[in-house]
Amino acid sequence: MCAASMVKAHRKTVDIGTDHAYLPAYLILNGIAEDVLACDIGIKPLLNAEKTLKAYSLEDKIRLRVSDGLKKVSPDEAQEITICGMGGTLMSDILKDAPWIKKNGIHLVLQPMTHSEDVRRFLCENGFLITEENCVLDTGRVYCCIGAEFIGEDCTEETGFYYFGTLPPKDDISAEYVKKQLSRVNIKLQALKKAGIETEEVIMLQEVKDYYEKRMQSES
Ligand SMILES: C[S@@+](CC[C@H](N)C(=O)[O-])C[C@H]1O[C@@H](n2cnc3c(N)ncnc32)[C@H](O)[C@@H]1O
Repeated sequence: MCAASMVKAHRKTVDIGTDHAYLPAYLILNGIAEDVLACDIGIKPLLNAEKTLKAYSLEDKIRLRVSDGLKKVSPDEAQEITICGMGGTLMSDILKDAPWIKKNGIHLVLQPMTHSEDVRRFLCENGFLITEENCVLDTGRVYCCIGAEFIGEDCTEETGFYYFGTLPPKDDISAEYVKKQLSRVNIKLQALKKAGIETEEVIMLQEVKDYYEKRMQSES
């Protein structure tokens, strides 16, 4: 499990949008965490989670809580925060709504399904250093997993970085991810140009393309 392998061990861990609580269960069963606070906005997902807890006898190791993002989590409950399987825009809104996470010692593991550029941008503009990125192939789709820790310094990057993460890609799955991101950028750029729309977005997308080409060329 890609996200689990990026979680720092033996820390106060909170999983947001836990659904079946598979990630918390994996962390406990593999000795990565001693206990986990598993949160979800909905009751139904937490009923799914309850089944997982019962199946693996984890009732005393995983606490379930209804919470919209991190709103019902207090700062002293979290060192390690995982958010997986949501869109990147929602994910960055959840992080934005919890300004207390901007403190030393907080480590995030984030696996956005879409719009990973929103997540990288939020992190870098809010004092989080992206320390690790891995890509994973799941049922034919490629996703990235981002590890970041708060350092409270200026971590801003060029816009292109927010789309691709570190270039060049380090393996075949990362290369696939970069290809997917580039294709999204190209499709949007072409559509806007074809419609004769000259907006700031066109300029930004062209910059993202230029960033990709510059970085790939400098490595070849
Ligand atoms: C696709 S599931 C992902 C489950 C699991 N994290 C995974 O990666 O397999 C997304 C979950 O996020 C929950 N969710 C959506 N918005 C949320 C929010 N604002 N706060 C907490 N959970 C949320 C949904 O109820 C759902 O259970």
